[in-house]
Amino acid sequence: MNLLKDKILTDGHAIGSNILKVDSFLNHQIDVKLLDEIGKVFYERFKEDRITKILTIEASGIALAVITAQYFDNIPVVFAKKTESLNLDKDLYTSEVYSFTKNKSYKIMVSKKYINSTDRILIIDDFLANGKAILGLKEIIDQANATLAGAGIVIEKGFQEGGDIIRDMGIKIESLAIIDSIEDGVVTFKN
Ligand code: G4P
Ligand code: NA
Ligand code: NA
Repeated sequence: MNLLKDKILTDGHAIGSNILKVDSFLNHQIDVKLLDEIGKVFYERFKEDRITKILTIEASGIALAVITAQYFDNIPVVFAKKTESLNLDKDLYTSEVYSFTKNKSYKIMVSKKYINSTDRILIIDDFLANGKAILGLKEIIDQANATLAGAGIVIEKGFQEGGDIIRDMGIKIESLAIIDSIEDGVVTFKN
């Protein structure tokens, strides 16, 4: 997606050879027009997959999931929660996600009310690095006996293993920008 890649090149900031900061349009401030274009593209890539629900993880995934859902026919967005709260349902699907970026594990939770066995689920997320977030969401989808129909990712870090792991599992994955490398502050793309 050229609009996205241009935005990454003009407004993204490389940190070392591993991290891409996109706080000015995706992770902190949000460029709504860009997100809307991203939502349209995700719809085009998954419109034939009979999606009934979009699943993501708070926080950055929510805006993307919501803007994408508008293009489908009246499907809800469910976001996995990372923190327990008093009023969160007690009947939960849970899984454990290890974050390499943060070097710690966290629990993700979805109420059993909001995913069921007839659902065909599209996962939407901002980054794909080692794939742990997608695998954690897949575990929850499996617990609910629902179907994982695919995953839409805004930025895949192609030099990390997540993309291969997820594709090798036979999961349909659409990444709108795949980064080949980050070297001396210069980002190059694979796709
Ligand atoms: P993984 O899920 O693919 O294994 O990735 P990892 O544990 O490395 O990522 C943990 C968090 O960091 C995720 O956000 C992920 O989106 C984000 N992330 C990974 N690599 C990059 C990067 O190069 N740049 C940026 N900006 N983010 C990256 P999160 O913990 O879910 O946080 P939130 O932003 O959704 O609240
Ligand atoms: Na993030
Ligand atoms: Na994320």
